[in-house]
Amino acid sequence: MALVLGIETSCDETGVAVFDTDRGLLGHRLYSQVAMHADYGGVVPELAARDHVTRLTPLIADLCGELELELTRLDAIAYTAGPGLVGALLVGACTAQAMAMALGVPALPIHHMEGHLLAPLLEEDPPEFPFVALLVSGGHSMLVDVADVGRYQLLGDTLDDAAGEAFDKTATLLGLGYPGGPAVSRVAESGDPKAIRFPRPMTNRPGLDFSFSGLKTHVLTTWRASDQSDRTRANVAAGFQEAVADTLAIKCRRAMTQTGRKRLIVAGGVGANHRLRQVLKADGEKHGYQVFYPRLEFCTDNGAMIAFAGAIRVERAGKADGAVEVFPRWPLEKLTYRTGH
Ligand code: KG4
Ligand code: ZN
Repeated sequence: MALVLGIETSCDETGVAVFDTDRGLLGHRLYSQVAMHADYGGVVPELAARDHVTRLTPLIADLCGELELELTRLDAIAYTAGPGLVGALLVGACTAQAMAMALGVPALPIHHMEGHLLAPLLEEDPPEFPFVALLVSGGHSMLVDVADVGRYQLLGDTLDDAAGEAFDKTATLLGLGYPGGPAVSRVAESGDPKAIRFPRPMTNRPGLDFSFSGLKTHVLTTWRASDQSDRTRANVAAGFQEAVADTLAIKCRRAMTQTGRKRLIVAGGVGANHRLRQVLKADGEKHGYQVFYPRLEFCTDNGAMIAFAGAIRVERAGKADGAVEVFPRWPLEKLTYRTGH
């Protein structure tokens, strides 16, 4: 049995969780900085880092207090080491390292996207390996072939804007504020997705890469040339959301065919999108693959996925070397796993 504390501070959420390799997830806490960044229309890196400093330690104390967990019982501290905002990452990394040193346990640097792609395994009916992962967040749109824990092959990546970034920019353009994804999908509910047809970028040529910046420009020119009424806003939001969902589904199907996998997992903030889920469900039923998600609160950034990734590491990989490490850019395929034999 091993008890692992997970710390997530890569962007604008401070997340902590404790995972027990025998009993599963014992508890988690999240503090979202969204309200603070909303005034600026996006994440301000320096403010994010400072706020993590303020929130992280009380959040850990609060969680451990509720769990009646003495810190000395922890076997490892897992922290998001990248990719992400360097100042924000350093807060989690230094806190994890300080705790690890004081407790005499290893600190485990975790890849944020590995956290996302393992998150569906926290659910009751988890997918078995192998599977394909669609990781769609504010910073990434990736398709990854997952043969097993630590065996990741990048199938496709974004060439410019990530899917979540496209949602955020569209929201700003339509005057819907930050964060954009939930706002766009809320407004889209009252719109007609067929009223305006937006392009499905990069779907008419082979390959699994994504590009959403052209779609964003299309939204911009359409909106500027329109009457900018509430009705048009809803139609633009619905048409945009439909285009993103369709594009992602087309690429997923292609990835499933290319790899021959039968299970698809979807994670990252955009995985919370209701329309994307509907489109993928229909596509999976039609083309014979099953789709898995983390629960909604674990689609977006959280500490549970980091504690879990750390716990798997403890089980499979053994000890960490204790160096303070952060990686603002970090290819998923470069992850090394020590198998312990
Ligand atoms: O995974 P995440 O919490 O943070 C990153 O690692 O980036 O993802 C945040 C992104 C934001 O761009 C946000 O607008 C988007 O996920 N998002 C959504 C929805 N909820 C969050 N996009 C579309 N529909 C949603 N319901
Ligand atoms: Zn994320």
